[in-house]
Amino acid sequence: MADQHALQTAMHQNYTAFKAILPELMKTHAGMFALMRDGQIVQFFNSDAGAMAYGDESFEDGVFSILEISDQLVEPELPEATPSEASADRPGEVSDRPEPAAPEIIVPRAIVFASQKGGAGKTTLCGHVAVQAELAGAGPVALVDTDPQGSLAEWWNSREAETPLFVKTHFADLGRDLNALGERNIKLVFIDTPPAVTDTIREVVGYADLVVIPTRPSPHDLRAVGATVDIVEDQNKQMIFAVNAATARARITGESAVALSQHGTVAPVTIHQRVDFATSMIDGRTVMEMNPESRSAQEIIGLWEYIATQLAKVERRVPERRVESRPYEGTEQRQVDRGPAFGRRVGARTFGKRVAR
Ligand SMILES: Nc1ncnc2c1ncn2[C@@H]1O[C@H](COP(=O)(O)OP(=O)(O)OP(=O)(O)O)[C@@H](O)[C@H]1O
Ligand SMILES: [Mg+2]
Repeated sequence: MADQHALQTAMHQNYTAFKAILPELMKTHAGMFALMRDGQIVQFFNSDAGAMAYGDESFEDGVFSILEISDQLVEPELPEATPSEASADRPGEVSDRPEPAAPEIIVPRAIVFASQKGGAGKTTLCGHVAVQAELAGAGPVALVDTDPQGSLAEWWNSREAETPLFVKTHFADLGRDLNALGERNIKLVFIDTPPAVTDTIREVVGYADLVVIPTRPSPHDLRAVGATVDIVEDQNKQMIFAVNAATARARITGESAVALSQHGTVAPVTIHQRVDFATSMIDGRTVMEMNPESRSAQEIIGLWEYIATQLAKVERRVPERRVESRPYEGTEQRQVDRGPAFGRRVGARTFGKRVAR
């Protein structure tokens, strides 16, 4: 447990940093709760209860702040302090302490799920692998849905768990959104794309560190895969194929893997056709969250591990790429989808509710 002065300093550091970035946060995360520590955002939550649970679990010393992203900024209650400590550090008063360092911005690594063939498993695998990456501790993770169909958004809206973070966006805003996610300390972004819309896929693939091409082991899917491969190769991106919805012991699975390997790397893990992939997603979950021991869950764990090793081999993108050409200024159609229709938000105001227990 930190001492009182340290607590007050930590709380004020969080508050000052939060106040500085609040106008930006209002554009993307209004109504959410930021969990902050050392003047940096750890993660966003839909409810203060979720933030509190995460903070309690992550920081045994209890030194963190939960701040509501609202235009009605309320000064948090600071812990008791001696008069000399209290005089210099209250928000709004002059302080001779150095301002906290601006958070370092790192563009998150982007894994794009693409295939022009509809129904190949982009949305299913994107959601599953993102959750697995978060479970494996590779996060914080964000999911981005660039598909106007919004299947991933619907899944996320019915999800109980607070993570991964979710962003529904238009591909034209993607560069700016990735930058904004980096500012929020997101490490990995999993991006779902629509089928068939070549221009959208091309744009989104432009931001990829790695492209995953889910492919069903069927002649139709194999014939269609060339078009997606062309887009990825045109942009010199790394890609892997993931054979999805394979039937157990069917010969065509192996044959498909061989055919795909003519075009590029095939993930050594095959995802089989199993009903739990579909049923788990009905209420916003994944097969790992339904039954972590299931064979489906083991396949996703294996696929994530393979993706992680491939990602580690890919050089980091240059952060300035494209992002500078679209200044971050508007409030147009980009938003973090908080799923208000599902009654997930807690109404209580808990701004700066606590920094310590
Ligand atoms: N391994 C699997 N086992 C069982 N069902 C699956 C599997 N993978 C995908 N499905 C089911 O197949 C359908 C299509 O999957 P999904 O929506 O993930 O594909 P998609 O590539 O995102 O489709 P679209 O191109 O329309 O966006 C869904 O109903 C999904 O539940
Ligand atoms: Mg889809």
